[in-house]
Amino acid sequence: MSEQGLSDRFGRRINYLRVSVTDRCDLRCIYCMAEKMTFLPRESLLSLEEIARICRVFVELGVTKIRFTGGEPLVRRGVLKLFREVGRLPGLGEMVMTTNGTRLDQYAPHLKEAGMRRLNISLDTLRADRFRRISRVGELDRVLAGIEAAREAGFARIKLNSVILAGRNEDEVLSLTRFAVERGLDISFIEEMPLGEIEERDRAESYYSSDAIRADLEREFTLLPSTDSTGGPSRYYTLAGTGTRVGFISPHSHNFCHLCNRVRLTVEGRLLLCLGHEHSVDLRRVVREHPREDEPLRQAIIDSMAIKPERHEFDLGTRPVLRRHMNHTGG
Ligand code: GTP
Ligand code: 5AD
Ligand code: SF4
Repeated sequence: MSEQGLSDRFGRRINYLRVSVTDRCDLRCIYCMAEKMTFLPRESLLSLEEIARICRVFVELGVTKIRFTGGEPLVRRGVLKLFREVGRLPGLGEMVMTTNGTRLDQYAPHLKEAGMRRLNISLDTLRADRFRRISRVGELDRVLAGIEAAREAGFARIKLNSVILAGRNEDEVLSLTRFAVERGLDISFIEEMPLGEIEERDRAESYYSSDAIRADLEREFTLLPSTDSTGGPSRYYTLAGTGTRVGFISPHSHNFCHLCNRVRLTVEGRLLLCLGHEHSVDLRRVVREHPREDEPLRQAIIDSMAIKPERHEFDLGTRPVLRRHMNHTGG
């Protein structure tokens, strides 16, 4: 199996693992969490050693890209040790991370030295008052300092992630893009996905489509279609005359499931076969029942491919498809 790698019953090759190292976060973004969240009890979490072991077995099965996510990955104590270990795995093409940026001013050089190849940093607004409203608790300056620290540490192709919501930040599409252009960063605009109940807002009302964003951008920039792919759901364009790529992640308006190459590990050790479904395999049980033998873990991963769903069924109806919030999967 390892020679051919992992593939599912729809012929999709799975070579990308997203690993959530914590469900905790120092922010409470309105699209990701409810106001009052209960976090997982510590004893249900995988240890960093268990996470490293699962990553190693995935790489032996042909996974070439691992993205660490959260919650916010940098709030997990000791996480650099995990990154150093995974970064050394032979056969892993790239180790990357998605972060909210609040701790990068402290961590950026250490991440670089651990072998982290690229960073995706969330940034939905450039206005401090709005940042506070969207993140409920955060300070924009921390994130801006984090972005600078990542640039200074020498990270290339830093990508900003902006979730655009009508009535909240849709008027900042151009200013966020200019911010990226001026600093040589890429930027992805993301349609909100209906994961988990959020009490104070109707998601359908704040829907702002990728096509609307594109129209906004075309008032100032020329978008040239790009064939670049990170093996992700983003459709990329280059902004003419700049080094910046703009990506659109459009689960509602442009479904990309037929290209799916990824699975997700939650911090409880559930291997989720699709972001939009509950199909999963309990790898925590397997690693704990077989602490010294990898074969059962290998086999569980190979067998999991049989239940990978064909596509998500997100819609913007009144109830979210899933009760699980985004911080359990890191997106
Ligand atoms: P690359 O690994 O460089 O492709 O990055 P990415 O843009 O896929 O990852 P990132 O962690 O920055 O996530 C950006 C957005 O894409 C988040 O909102 C994720 O939830 C979303 N996303 C990532 N993978 C998938 C997927 O398979 N399906 C859906 N619907 N959304 C995804
Ligand atoms: N819909 C779309 N994107 C989301 N993110 C968090 N919650 C949602 C949601 N409900 C984004 C974050 C981060 C990435 C991992 O996922 O902004 O950039
Ligand atoms: Fe793949 Fe599921 Fe994401 Fe669709 S929603 S791209 S099937 S993980």
